[in-house]
Parts: sequence; C-alpha cells; structure tokens
Amino acid sequence: MRLFRLSLLFLLIVSALALASDDEAWKAPKRHARKKNPIEATAESISNGRSAFMKECMSCHGEKGRGDGPAAKDLEKKPGDLTDKSLLDQTDGGLFWKITTGRTPMPSFRSILTDEQRWHVVNFVRALAPRENTIEIITPEFDTPEHMRAHVSGILEAYFNVSNALSREATDNAQCAARSLATAANDASDETTDDLTEPVLASWAEVSAELVKGATRLSTSESLADMRRCFSDLTSTLNTFVRKFGHAESDPIALIHCGKAFDGDGAEWLGHDDGASSPYLGPIDNDCNKMVAWLLPAQSKSD
Ligand code: HEC
Repeated sequence: MRLFRLSLLFLLIVSALALASDDEAWKAPKRHARKKNPIEATAESISNGRSAFMKECMSCHGEKGRGDGPAAKDLEKKPGDLTDKSLLDQTDGGLFWKITTGRTPMPSFRSILTDEQRWHVVNFVRALAPRENTIEIITPEFDTPEHMRAHVSGILEAYFNVSNALSREATDNAQCAARSLATAANDASDETTDDLTEPVLASWAEVSAELVKGATRLSTSESLADMRRCFSDLTSTLNTFVRKFGHAESDPIALIHCGKAFDGDGAEWLGHDDGASSPYLGPIDNDCNKMVAWLLPAQSKSD
C-alpha cells in the first residue's frame, strides 16, 4: 500500500514536471539569437517570405499571423500570435532558430525550407509586428480574380503617369493621364464576376466610381495647386482600392509620405520607391520622401 502511494506520488511529480516544462516560455539559445540576418528586409524578400508563409505556416498561424489559421483549433497548443509586441523583443536570429527547430506541434522547417527561405520568412514575420518607424506591409483584403485585378494595372499605369507629370509640373500631361485614369476606372466599374460576393462587388463598383470622379476632377482642374489637391484625394481612393482588391504588378507598390507637401502638412502618393521625384514638389526641391507602407501584390491562397 505504502509502495503504491509512493509510486503514485512519484507519478504526480513526474507529470507536474512534464507540464511545467511544456508551459515554459519558448526561448532561443543565446548563440542562435545572436545570429545576424544576412538578408535585407527588402519588399522583394518580404514578398518571398509571404509566399512561403502562406504555404507552410498559414494553416496554423493564420493569414495575418494572429494564430487563427484553419488548423489552429485542432492543435493541443495555441500557435503564437506573431503580431504580439513580445515578438519585438526577439531577435531575427531567435525567430530563425524557432522556425528552424520548431516545437511540438509546430514542425521543424530545417528540411522543408532552405536557409534563405527561412530568412525571407523571418523578414515577413517581422513585418507583421512592425517595430516603430518600420514600414507597414499590406496584404489585399479579398482574393480578387485575375481578370478584375488586370483593371487595377490599367488604373495604376495611368496614375503613375499623372504622378510623373505632376513631379515635372507638366500640367497638360497630367490632365491627359488623368483622363486615361478615368477611362480605366470606368471600365473597371463595369466589370463583374461570380467569384465575389454581392457586398464585395458593390464595394468594387463604389470605389472605382469614386476613382472616375477623382480623375475627372483632376483632368478639369485649372491650376497645378488644384491638381495636386485632387491627386492627394485620388491617392487615398486608390490606396483603399489596392488594399481591398490587390494589384497585379510583379513588385510591391510603395506608399510614400512627402512631408513637405502642402506647406508642411504632408501628403501621400503611390510609387515604386522613395527615390523618385515627389508629385507634390517641383523637380528642384525634392527631399521629402519617406516610405510608409508596401502594398504587396495579390496572390491566390492556393499558389
Ligand atoms: C502545425 C501548426 C504550425 C505550423 C504549420 C507552424 N507553426 Fe509556428 N507555432 C505553432 C505553435 C503551436 C506555436 C507555439 C509553440 C510553443 O510555444 O511551444 C508556434 C510558435 C511559433 C513562433 C514563436 C512565437 C513566439 O511567441 O515566440 C514562431 C516565430 C512561429 N511559430 C513561426 C512559424 C512559421 C514562420 C511557420 C512556417 C514556416 C510556422 N510557425 C508553422 C504552430 C505552427
């Protein structure tokens, strides 16, 4: 009897220890945590990381890394919320080590992803919980079918032409490009599909109609100052459009803040990088750009 009690006690202690170690915070060993990230967090790297994440991690961690993927509810342990502030205290090397080794139920990715792919994934995960003053990464809200995203390309091309013309203060060219933008947005507003729900389609029609209005206003503005006001409104509508429906450019699009626009009030524009001339300033005074966000291309969840 005594022996039985003792063994019961022993069992209890062992299982308590097992539980405790299982609950223990997951920390990367120092020498791994110190490892430097060899790959710069460029938009291209983040975009690569996102592809790998969607394929390998999304099922548990969820599309936005909140730990709410479709497989998460069947796990014995919750996947971490990768947007949590606590991730800021971890180094890139530490995250790399965790992804490399895994911890049940999270598998090891040592032989599933190459070293390079795992660093891209680290860069993407970093972008989910941005440190202060880092660049926000925006993934489209809806899985818009490709034939609809093609319209966004036409709109963006015209928009970039308007932007370019304004940075050169070429008002005629800006008006002409704005007319093309209105036409492209008008074509988009007529587009329809069975792949999206009614409310999403209604939102598509509403935002594209707003773009038509904004572009038309710009094309009929008399002065450069008015055009730049219209351009700022147009940017905010287009920003909404791309955030919702995605775009089909091969590279991410940059959302750039020009701090000197409108006498220091600042304004935003979309471009390819912050090295280009600001559409809000003349070609001479151009030192105002700051990258705010990357708008990643749309990507079907299956690819
Ligand atoms: C089978 C589900 C599953 C998959 C797939 C998975 N994870 Fe996890 N992940 C988890 C769970 C569960 C935890 C919590 C583990 C723990 O705390 O012991 C976790 C924890 C993490 C952490 C640590 C979070 C923290 O707070 O320190 C990181 C980082 C992470 N996962 C990244 C990834 C990445 C990147 C991928 C894809 C390459 C991935 N995971 C794939 C389930 C998964």
